Amino acid sequence: MSIDTDNQSFEAAVRRSRELDGELQAHPERFRMLSGDRPTGPLHIGHLFGTLLNRVRMQDLGVDVFVLIADYQTITDRDAPERIRGDVLGLCADYLAVGIDPEKSTIFAHSQIAELNQLMIPFLSLVTISELKRNPTVKEEFTALGGASMNALMFTYPVHQAADILFCGANVVPVGKDQLPHLELTRSIARRFNVRYSPGEPFFSEPTALLSDAPLILGLDGQKMSKSRNNAISLSMDEDETARNVRSAATDSERSIMFDLVHRPAVSNLLLITSLCTGESPEMIAEEIGGGAEELKRRLAEVLNERLRPIRQRRRDLVKDPAQLSDFLQRGSERARDIAAQTLVIVRERMHMHYE
Ligand code: TRP
Repeated sequence: MSIDTDNQSFEAAVRRSRELDGELQAHPERFRMLSGDRPTGPLHIGHLFGTLLNRVRMQDLGVDVFVLIADYQTITDRDAPERIRGDVLGLCADYLAVGIDPEKSTIFAHSQIAELNQLMIPFLSLVTISELKRNPTVKEEFTALGGASMNALMFTYPVHQAADILFCGANVVPVGKDQLPHLELTRSIARRFNVRYSPGEPFFSEPTALLSDAPLILGLDGQKMSKSRNNAISLSMDEDETARNVRSAATDSERSIMFDLVHRPAVSNLLLITSLCTGESPEMIAEEIGGGAEELKRRLAEVLNERLRPIRQRRRDLVKDPAQLSDFLQRGSERARDIAAQTLVIVRERMHMHYE
């Protein structure tokens, strides 16, 4: 794709996303939203302020929210396969602790939904190798791995992601800019399936990306916040560890505290997190503090621990009872399975693969 068409499709996605935002407020009951995470360890405040709180908001607005634990997406880059169960149940605890309500929303793991995974077969027939090679995320991995040694699941994971979305007819998918190409591929697969197998009566509808406008939070070292970089505050951390990590956060050598994302990213990031916890603007907080990174860090540790306290309390209670957690997950997976089974019946019918 040329830069021009890339830009055009980005702008189109931005426009669609804006329209969608308004419709969601007006008619939440018309929407099914799918979002998900790879179970690679505890969720952190980047997830909380970036997506989790928005899922809860959508749920409470009346949107039918599906939350996917993408366990099959982690099997290729995992050294210790035996840790997956703990990671999945931990993720489930994170979801429930932040307020995703299993009575209203559907939390499920895609490995448990055989019918979802079966969609991968017709879907794979609708995309070409060169399309996958052009996908920016796949391309990045391909280059990082030196090409040929990439395994075939990693190569095709955007197709699997299309199955995650289309099996339940989700029409809204909250994504960051980096996931837009995956959503574009999902839309193509839906369209191609309809053209080939269901002309005149389209079966799959094309989902719309809901682009996040949440501010991007950096890690405590000023780099991208990530579990593996050890620069994150996770939901499951205790208050002492939180305070200790905040104390060790990177700042700069200037005396005064000022909100300036371009010139003073590290300090501004701490202000931003403080602001997300208290609701005050980062500029106001900077002014109140005046000088001294120490004072900023002390404040941040305090408001962060306060904001996370009820979430952490709920999380501690939840992990005490793993049987109950796995029960929640099974119930969500059953609901997802019912829907996937219905989808597969129709998909086979449209493909003329019903022989009864
Ligand atoms: N790849 C996504 C991530 O890394 C997780 C994911 C898997 C997903 N399937 C999805 C997201 C379908 C949205 C839709 O976070």
